[in-house]
Amino acid sequence: DNQESQAMLEAHQWLTKLYHHLLKNSKDGRKAYEYLLDRGFTEETIQKYQLGYSPDDKDFVVTFLEKKGFHPQTMVKAGLLSVNDQGNYADRFRGRVMFPLRNHLGKTVAFAGRALGDQQPKYLNSPETELFHKGRLLYNFDLARSSIRKEKTVVLFEGFGDVISAAQSGIPYAVGTMGTSLSSTQANLLKKYTDQIIVCYDGDRAGIEAAVKAARLTKSIGCQTFVARVPDGLDPDDFIQRHGGDRFKKEVLDTSDTYISFMMSYLRRDYNLQVEGDRIAYIEKVLQEIATLDRAVEREHYLNEMSSEFQLSLETLKEEISQIRSQQG
Ligand code: GTP
Ligand code: MN
Ligand code: MN
Ligand code: MN
Ligand code: MN
Repeated sequence: DNQESQAMLEAHQWLTKLYHHLLKNSKDGRKAYEYLLDRGFTEETIQKYQLGYSPDDKDFVVTFLEKKGFHPQTMVKAGLLSVNDQGNYADRFRGRVMFPLRNHLGKTVAFAGRALGDQQPKYLNSPETELFHKGRLLYNFDLARSSIRKEKTVVLFEGFGDVISAAQSGIPYAVGTMGTSLSSTQANLLKKYTDQIIVCYDGDRAGIEAAVKAARLTKSIGCQTFVARVPDGLDPDDFIQRHGGDRFKKEVLDTSDTYISFMMSYLRRDYNLQVEGDRIAYIEKVLQEIATLDRAVEREHYLNEMSSEFQLSLETLKEEISQIRSQQG
């Protein structure tokens, strides 16, 4: 109910403050603070994003929330505590660097806790609750919204670190999906602010597959989609920390592939273009993608490219496209 949601929301605001306080003012918290500074986050950034530390204690938060008058059962529902079969409550997040996840109004509605070392899982997130649906929330959207409008572009990352590093280095028009694929709710939300989107995921297999999905989805709702590649096996965060925001803009964002170029090189990996059958299958796949483009000029541009690469007449390709488009409806 409403009162319960309100309590859940309030508890999240208290814990945001508590975790942040402990980061700066507890012995173990200082280790987490050092970890964040080592990663290249500035004090100002740590403050701005209210990064925190959850003590490695089974009932620190249990006690804190009890004192504030919250019902433990409600706090379980909020994803802040866990409860066992004996009815004992325990802190959900322990000994982790805490990233508050804010809704579009800037209120914390969930947390992601990162392990300080190599413990698994690397990230522990809040479960889905009344307040938090991970398929609806875009990390940093509250702070990025006005710059997305101003720049008429948004950069989409998969991790919190990527978003925060970008924002700290002069790219505030950045949001994150928190490791899951972009949902159509999230895509439509972005589309209200800009139709130019740069997908900038990690270069590993999972990242590339997720980028394909995000690119297809945003393209399908009429966005002008670009896909960026980060060189040398780095993720965007690593690249920015190593080379700075200016180089990230120039060498990664400004050199993003258009949707079709990205799809062409992605599809190419599955085929050996020296083999005739493969070549034809590849051409067919690419034409399917080109056929989805709304603008005739854009279609013709890529058909020209295909025509010269594969020595096919533009006429034939155009005919093929018309056929595909009539089937696609
Ligand atoms: P850092 O190592 O802190 O730089 O993390 P990262 O953001 O680079 O993580 P990675 O590229 O491995 O994964 C991208 C995103 O997927 C993360 O930001 C998380 O949101 C999510 N993710 C990664 N590992 C886990 C995990 O173990 N559990 C869950 N639930 N999510 C994860
Ligand atoms: Mn849900
Ligand atoms: Mn990754
Ligand atoms: Mn990463
Ligand atoms: Mn990273």
